[in-house]
Amino acid sequence: MNNLDTFREAGNPMFGENKLKLGVFGANCSHACAITTAETDFAPTFEKNVEIAKLLEASGMECMVPIARWRGFGGPSDFNGENMDTFTWAAALAAVTEKVYLFSTTHVPTIHPIVAAKMATTIDRISKGRYGINIVCGWFTPEMEMFGQKMLEHDTRYEYAAEWITIVEKLWTEKRFDYHGDFFTINDGVSNPKPYQSPRPVLICAGASPKGRDYVAKYCDISFGFMESMEKGKDWVTETKRLAVDKFNREIGTFTSCPVVCRETEKEAQEYYNYYIHEKGDWEACENICRVLQVQSQNHSPEMYKKFKERFIAGWGGYPLVGTPEQITDKLIELSKTGVDGTLISMVDYNSELPFWNERVMPLLEQAGLRKPVRK
Ligand SMILES: Cc1cc2nc3c(=O)[nH]c(=O)nc-3n(C[C@H](O)[C@H](O)[C@H](O)COP(=O)(O)O)c2cc1C
Repeated sequence: MNNLDTFREAGNPMFGENKLKLGVFGANCSHACAITTAETDFAPTFEKNVEIAKLLEASGMECMVPIARWRGFGGPSDFNGENMDTFTWAAALAAVTEKVYLFSTTHVPTIHPIVAAKMATTIDRISKGRYGINIVCGWFTPEMEMFGQKMLEHDTRYEYAAEWITIVEKLWTEKRFDYHGDFFTINDGVSNPKPYQSPRPVLICAGASPKGRDYVAKYCDISFGFMESMEKGKDWVTETKRLAVDKFNREIGTFTSCPVVCRETEKEAQEYYNYYIHEKGDWEACENICRVLQVQSQNHSPEMYKKFKERFIAGWGGYPLVGTPEQITDKLIELSKTGVDGTLISMVDYNSELPFWNERVMPLLEQAGLRKPVRK
């Protein structure tokens, strides 16, 4: 049995029968993934997040992944400036939902692994096994240095994250242990009860640099990445899966992200896409992000940034899906052919746009064989 079979056997939706898994990204932050001042009723309130979770459950979508954020990116929108903590967010949502798989996204330097393991176990048990962690190392210097410490050098961050997750896993699975690493010392470590899921909650990570990719392949279950184009996406999926097998004898899944504008006509969809990006895009906040990201992450060239600023504004660099329900379905069929296991969608206003998505796109995805009918 390989490492993912345990999740499959337990009926984990992240590894379930739907060929293309779907989720929502970033609903815990203001403006979610759209760097824009476009008019919207969306706000990252708990009530709106509960409504989104229920809409996902109604259409059988798999998961919600929040963004780990501690401060905004400035500009007129102060993009992501209002943000809910992702552990307490997941715990509260777990208590009022039944099917959707919830993640906490956490910057490992901001939380001790003993505290993280305990909170994760608690949420996993509240949700009865519908919980996972999205591991991020931190790259936005003003955000990480707000904690009063210098950010570690890029590759060292992954070494820190390796010790962090090793300790979390030991707490989840072992009775007691001692640990002496370069960053952590654990004396007679113990954590009870153990998580609801055996052996542990699902781990995902968006590491994209060589060091980051190795980290995901070695420790995580799903790699979370950008798709610059369908062709490059296909190569990314193949290489990601191959790296895990060849280097670590493990299987990993892949997820990407897609900003969505779905309307009755192509014209309406294109007009709205132009409106929120070209008329109302917050290029200042986008510039603030790109400036730091270029220095702090190793996976993007300056040329790529220029080309992808528009995509950043649309939805954090994800692959845009703009058009009618039929056109979006065709794109998702193409996306699935890259071999990717799932995608997180983002919208300017989830609460007003998801009902149309549920009603019009989800049945087409079923017809296309990408998804099974929803079990009521
Ligand atoms: C889809 C996606 C989601 C991400 N979510 C977050 C996040 O919530 N918080 C954060 O600080 N960084 C986030 N990141 C940035 C990653 O943690 C990471 O820094 C980036 O992918 C660069 O990888 P590298 O550090 O290996 O170069 C995300 C990246 C991607 C592609």
